Amino acid sequence: MNVLILGSGGREHAFAWKIAQSPKLTTLFIAPGNAGTTQVGTNVEIGVNDFAAIKEFVLSNKIEIVVVGPEDPLVNGIHDYFLVDEQLKNIGVIGPKKDGAMLEGSKEFSKIFMEKHGIPTAKYQSFTTENLEKGYAFLETLTPPYVLKADGLAAGKGVLILDDLVAAKTELANMTNGKFGDASATVVIEEFLQGIELSVFVLTDGESYKILPSAKDYKRIGEGDTGLNTGGMGAISPVPFADEDYLQKVEDLVVKPTIAGLRADGIDYKGFIFIGLMNDNGNPSVVEYNVRMGDPETEVVIPRIKSDLLELFEGVANQTLHEKTFEVDERIATTVMLVSGGYPESYEKGKVITGIDAIENSIPFHAGTKQEGENIVTSGGRVLALTSFGKDIKEALSLSFANAEKVNFENKNYRKDIGFDLV
Ligand code: AMP
Ligand code: GLY
Repeated sequence: MNVLILGSGGREHAFAWKIAQSPKLTTLFIAPGNAGTTQVGTNVEIGVNDFAAIKEFVLSNKIEIVVVGPEDPLVNGIHDYFLVDEQLKNIGVIGPKKDGAMLEGSKEFSKIFMEKHGIPTAKYQSFTTENLEKGYAFLETLTPPYVLKADGLAAGKGVLILDDLVAAKTELANMTNGKFGDASATVVIEEFLQGIELSVFVLTDGESYKILPSAKDYKRIGEGDTGLNTGGMGAISPVPFADEDYLQKVEDLVVKPTIAGLRADGIDYKGFIFIGLMNDNGNPSVVEYNVRMGDPETEVVIPRIKSDLLELFEGVANQTLHEKTFEVDERIATTVMLVSGGYPESYEKGKVITGIDAIENSIPFHAGTKQEGENIVTSGGRVLALTSFGKDIKEALSLSFANAEKVNFENKNYRKDIGFDLV
């Protein structure tokens, strides 16, 4: 089978690394990919939203499965684009159509969906410039902190959590007035949920599903979960408190009604559902849905899957997922993300990376790297995710941290406390 993966981060390198091990694979392409994906496949210089160029490439290279890494091509309708095209309609696309992608593309849509299907989530209301006064009144009924979310995609920056009522009212006005462009024309205000966050990932063909390993990511730039939000500085799988009983609860209260709700609403969903949960004393509540895998969560979840990922994807595409076996490695996986100094604010690119060859007992997943002549150089804020296995979190982390010291580039930064709250 010929496969095309869309995307260029650590998530896509982890998919590529895994698919490259499949006996079903003939040729693997990654568009646009990075310096890591070229080690397991062929990079193609096509942007993830250039549907016409993707079509041409898919047809001329006899691609049978397209794996969509990031959310924007999904929200922009890449799967729909394939389905309405006579030449493309039988090619498997891993990722939902536009209707399903709304679970991530619109916070309001996802809240309405959860409410309709009885899925536990924070109480909410949504507002625009038309009913700001009502928004202020709703804020007054809540206890701080106040959670304000831009309805649309805002590059991970659209959620504000504020302690002060006056500030919350001001931000509500700013957001509806275009603080995040059109994405915040509608603002969802919701109750603040207490607890510890974790993520659960589901792969579905629209009828049956597999629950993938759980994971926890570390979003803040600073140790002790302080400072600005990033795409993710590290991750751990599985999450120790998400034991069998808890995961059964998540399956019964969240996963089953989500799959059934999609079907009831006529949404034929093929792909990943990333469920962000808050665990409050054993009670799961949904914080968000994403319609793709997480990054860096993929770098710990995918290596723990023992089964053939391409076979699972084939099951998704042909709606035969229920026939596929699914086995998970019992060991713990951790990943530590090396980032460019300055990230998530401004940072320099093009720094030569050394020491990747010296890595032992970790898998280096490239995130923001590029081949430049002989050298591999940095090309993004998040540069390299170092994934390791262990019998416990400490053992796995010690390998990731030891290798984090071996890899060097100017202004390298990483969190030395990944997993601090779990060990
Ligand atoms: P979201 O994009 O909806 O996942 O929100 C980003 C982050 O804000 C989440 O990962 C949580 O850490 C936090 N957050 C979002 N909604 C809530 C909530 N209702 N209560 C507490 N924290 C929240
Ligand atoms: N690591 C969080 C995300 O991928 O959204």
